[in-house]
Amino acid sequence: MEIISRRQRMSSVARKLRREQDRTIGLVPTMGALHEGHLSLVREARRMCDKVVVSVFVNPTQFGPSEDFEHYPRDLTKDTALLTDYNVDYIFAPNPEEIYPKDFSTYVNVGGLSKLLEGESRPGHFRGVATIVAILLNTVRPDFAFFGQKDAQQAVIIKRMVRDLAFDTEIVVLPTVREDSGLAISSRNLYLDSEEQQSAAVINRALKQAKEVFKKGERHAGKLAEVVRSTVETEPRVRLDYVSVVDAETLERLDKLDERPILIAVAAYVGKTRLIDNTILNKAKKDATTSKG
Ligand code: PAJ
Repeated sequence: MEIISRRQRMSSVARKLRREQDRTIGLVPTMGALHEGHLSLVREARRMCDKVVVSVFVNPTQFGPSEDFEHYPRDLTKDTALLTDYNVDYIFAPNPEEIYPKDFSTYVNVGGLSKLLEGESRPGHFRGVATIVAILLNTVRPDFAFFGQKDAQQAVIIKRMVRDLAFDTEIVVLPTVREDSGLAISSRNLYLDSEEQQSAAVINRALKQAKEVFKKGERHAGKLAEVVRSTVETEPRVRLDYVSVVDAETLERLDKLDERPILIAVAAYVGKTRLIDNTILNKAKKDATTSKG
């Protein structure tokens, strides 16, 4: 395994793999502090592709001024050890200056979608995400890039960007990996003490509750949102930020629910830590959803 910090080196290595060796390349973009969620993406990349690149980059442009960029957990040594076990071929771990030189001035804005849900409380977040993912896709030019359903809106936005800007990469979205308690695994769970972690499990319980009610025939979005809200409220340590019932592709708010895939997205505070989770109703049968620009 090679750790690459230069963009040029990453491009030229990937170009060689593609052109001279005719290898398929899988890219797993991450911000490091790797956990089982990330590793599930790496495992699938390993299964589907000849060569696997994992990027580890805490992307400054997707953090708001009062967010946790400075304190975001970083441990490249530990991440490297994990990725070695997973037989990853390259880690791309650039410095911020390598990606964003002083006169950097081009950003990708996926209109509409970026303003909804998470975008409402995190203005500029998805501009940062779309920009870094575009840079990574252009640097590595992978055949496949792997993302988690845990960040449902991010996956929708990346798919839209890839389609709109004709990136030659297929986007693979994989299911959320959870603790036994149901809590979606996240690097930010490290900020929670063990009691808070237990309390946070109510978020997934609330989503499951809503799913049950839907299965029993409830078709009013407002009713499902209410089920989530009232379940989360049973846990005093958890404060709901929003629950939204939306079209899983367009992220448009829905009133009456029909056959199309529906996303119930939740953000909640546990202490000062903001967590997100979601579930899909009317999911298409297969596990992984893919799309290509
Ligand atoms: P990060 O939070 O490190 O997550 C990297 C990838 O892992 C994302 O696609 C995310 O959805 C996925 N992931 C995180 N937790 C998961 C879980 N419990 N189950 C399944 N997948 C999970 O998301 C980012 O980084 C950044 O925004 C990035 C795309 C790298 C751009 O900077």
